[in-house]
Amino acid sequence: MLPPVPVLADYGISPTHGFLPEVLPLTRLPDPYYNKWEAIVANLPALILSKRLRGVVDRLPVLSTIGLEHDAEWRRAYSLLSFMAHGYIWGGDSPSDRLPPSITVPLLKVSQHLEVPPVATYAALCLWNFKPLFMDEDIDNLENLATLNTFTGSIDESWFYLVSVAMEARGAPIMQLGLTAIAAARQNDAATVTRCLGTFAERVDDLTTLLQRMHESCDPTIFYNRIRPFLAGSKNMAEAGLPNGVVYEDGSGTETYRQYAGGSNAQSSLIQFFDIVLGVEHRPTGEKRGRPDQQEPREGRPPAPKHNFLMEMRRYMPGPHARFLGDVQAVANIREFVEANRDHRPLCIAYDACLSMLRNLRDKHIAIVTRYIVVPSREVRARSRSRSPEVVRRKLDLATASRQPQGIAYDARGIAQKQQQDDKKNSNLKGTGGTALMSFLKQARDETGEPAVDEWTRRFMSRQGRIEGQGDFFAGKTEGGVGLPTEEVEVAGLAGTWTIDDDVGGICNY
Ligand code: HEM
Repeated sequence: MLPPVPVLADYGISPTHGFLPEVLPLTRLPDPYYNKWEAIVANLPALILSKRLRGVVDRLPVLSTIGLEHDAEWRRAYSLLSFMAHGYIWGGDSPSDRLPPSITVPLLKVSQHLEVPPVATYAALCLWNFKPLFMDEDIDNLENLATLNTFTGSIDESWFYLVSVAMEARGAPIMQLGLTAIAAARQNDAATVTRCLGTFAERVDDLTTLLQRMHESCDPTIFYNRIRPFLAGSKNMAEAGLPNGVVYEDGSGTETYRQYAGGSNAQSSLIQFFDIVLGVEHRPTGEKRGRPDQQEPREGRPPAPKHNFLMEMRRYMPGPHARFLGDVQAVANIREFVEANRDHRPLCIAYDACLSMLRNLRDKHIAIVTRYIVVPSREVRARSRSRSPEVVRRKLDLATASRQPQGIAYDARGIAQKQQQDDKKNSNLKGTGGTALMSFLKQARDETGEPAVDEWTRRFMSRQGRIEGQGDFFAGKTEGGVGLPTEEVEVAGLAGTWTIDDDVGGICNY
């Protein structure tokens, strides 16, 4: 007996909004009991700027979750508390490794209720943190969206979140298309599968157009230095000043350190859904493709192990969304169906088009990561190299906390020594294809094209461009004005923290 094809409504997934909530996020909690939370988050950028957030939160009473009724209220509470928590940890001269009970006690309850970890996940930052400007207009239109909460109050930060919101909304109809295609494949209805996949491909292409709008209003330097540090989690953060993670104080005195990844779009269920429906397999970084018969999933059989990092990210998705992905994985049959119908030309073209569009989305995403993380990190490193020891000997602020490879080493001699060690490590990385981060992203992109049925399409998609991001105006140049050769892209000064095998990533874990 085959398991039933999942029904969106069973997982709280909206046919029109997808993983965004069907009921729009609340702009504030209705019960005035929570006015203090609302007031803090409404003034978060100012409280962080004036370095008064911690004092205010330390004086905040522990509020009960008893006044939260509907799910929308729980979601609003989660977003408020997550913003407060990350602002508290990162909004000072050095990171705080303790969160007070005024945040942790309600945050732990709310997280448990919503089945999310008690940190600022993609759900807290994007899925449950937007409002339409005009109620009668669609939310897949960036010109109709605004954020509810930000750390910095900058348009760059809002835009960073809103591009994802618009993509989630535009991608929402693809989910039903994918499920309909799975059901049709069971019925051997190639015409319906072809129709669904054709529209699927067009919609994914729309998402790439939206993704590329990131460049319009999110400045890479602001992103790297001002926004990204607040998204950081507490896992693998020794270099940034949290060697053990963060203690969630609850007043019991028996608390231990906790470690969580930070917020990242890698926690979006949408892209993982595409992979699952299309039968795209992700291997651990560095692992080459084996024999296809060993790797391809078959309906009713347990799926092959997935890439650790992407699987880990499922734990940061709202529980029902992660369960949905698991259940879809158990019934995914499109790749197998297409392979069994290789003589059905329109079907094969539609399937390959889906893979090609998804691969292209990942390709454009790599150009974004290059411009927003790799290039600024090189600039920071170049600056820190040219700095005199006196200048380096300064307090650890938020931005340096998240970009100093040497962590809280205030001693200039120690910094110089560490710099030499890092240089040595980085030179060892040369010729290996760049850092683990870029290797991971490129491998994920290349794996997307692998299941293509048409020989020419597969060959076309596996072509290796000599220059990464070639032809992309925004891919960026190095300081010397030279383009970024694929093999030389390295995240200088960050190497060793972007090691996916150690469960460390660029945004989430950095
Ligand atoms: C300035 C914008 C962005 C930057 C700098 C960025 C950076 C990153 C980084 C560093 C990773 C590696 C994993 C991690 O540590 O989090 C990643 C992964 C990922 N990002 Fe982004 N990202 C951006 C925007 C987006 C958007 C808008 C999407 C929406 C689709 C997205 C989707 C993903 C996905 C799906 C992954 C997992 C890898 C994969 O499946 O290919 N990113 N991103």
